[in-house]
Amino acid sequence: MNSLDQLKQHTVIVADTGDIDSIARNKPQDATTNPSLIAKAAQMPQYADLIQEAIKSGRQDVAKLSAGTDQKLVNAVLDRLSVNFGLRILQIVPGRVSVEVDARLSFDEAATVEKGKHLIRLFAEHGISSDRILIKIASTWEGIRAAERLERDGIHCNLTLLFGFGQAVACADAGVTLISPFVGRILDWYKKSQGVSGYEIEKDPGVLSVHRIYNYYKRHGYKTQVMGASFRSADQVKALCGCDLLTVSPSLLTELSASDADVPKRLDSAAARTMELERVTLNESAFRWTLNQDAMATEKLAEGIRGFADDLESLSRFLNTLC
Ligand code: E4P
Repeated sequence: MNSLDQLKQHTVIVADTGDIDSIARNKPQDATTNPSLIAKAAQMPQYADLIQEAIKSGRQDVAKLSAGTDQKLVNAVLDRLSVNFGLRILQIVPGRVSVEVDARLSFDEAATVEKGKHLIRLFAEHGISSDRILIKIASTWEGIRAAERLERDGIHCNLTLLFGFGQAVACADAGVTLISPFVGRILDWYKKSQGVSGYEIEKDPGVLSVHRIYNYYKRHGYKTQVMGASFRSADQVKALCGCDLLTVSPSLLTELSASDADVPKRLDSAAARTMELERVTLNESAFRWTLNQDAMATEKLAEGIRGFADDLESLSRFLNTLC
């Protein structure tokens, strides 16, 4: 059995890409997108029809508004484009697709709730129920509160850009469906800050971060699922075998399916339940303080939001030339 099939025995494998054609090859259960992946896929000629349709629908959406500005049109097209990619992906995967809320709303709870509901309405127009969608939101305090409200309304959320343990604690207490702790970006930060070229996999700080979160969730019986994300190597993926889900790029999925190396289970919920792990609760000030004290998480969260916002701005400029 190849390494990918071994992993699939213990963990739900998810494709992390906007390139729809690459998803079919690895038969994942779910798929995740993010603004950078959508911006990249939007440049590919094979998805030009998704853009044309987004412009057409976006124009109709804006025509319903009393004062439709150019910016409103581009934003409407952006929403339609994310949904169009999601719809096409859902024709391939049997499970769910994660669609990210505009990163520029990361500190606006009300606007995030509104955007999440809007995206769900757009999917519903195409007959897709909210069970097949995860609304992806940055794990800021405001994002977590927005997710808590959306979950109460039956809208499932995937809390992303998650780097620190405090973010994971707050997400679980908010009752979100799923979190995406980032592995590779944590490794990137530690390599740079410590001036090293890498770590043994057992000491990889990104891998250890997910182990800690997974064990804590299982020990305290949280329902929130853990989906490791942002991988830099197949070894990082294998080191999380047993995690609830892992979202992996097409190139690493291909590498795993071409390998026969053994993939032992590394995370186990029964073992986690026996661990002595103290329960933590964080109110807003404690959340902000915990994040502030973790330089890696603070810097990577801010940088991640900026990066997604920059890619959305570039995509908006590109769409503007076509509208
Ligand atoms: C998925 O949810 C994440 O957006 C993705 O894994 C990030 O990966 P990157 O750190 O390689 O950009």
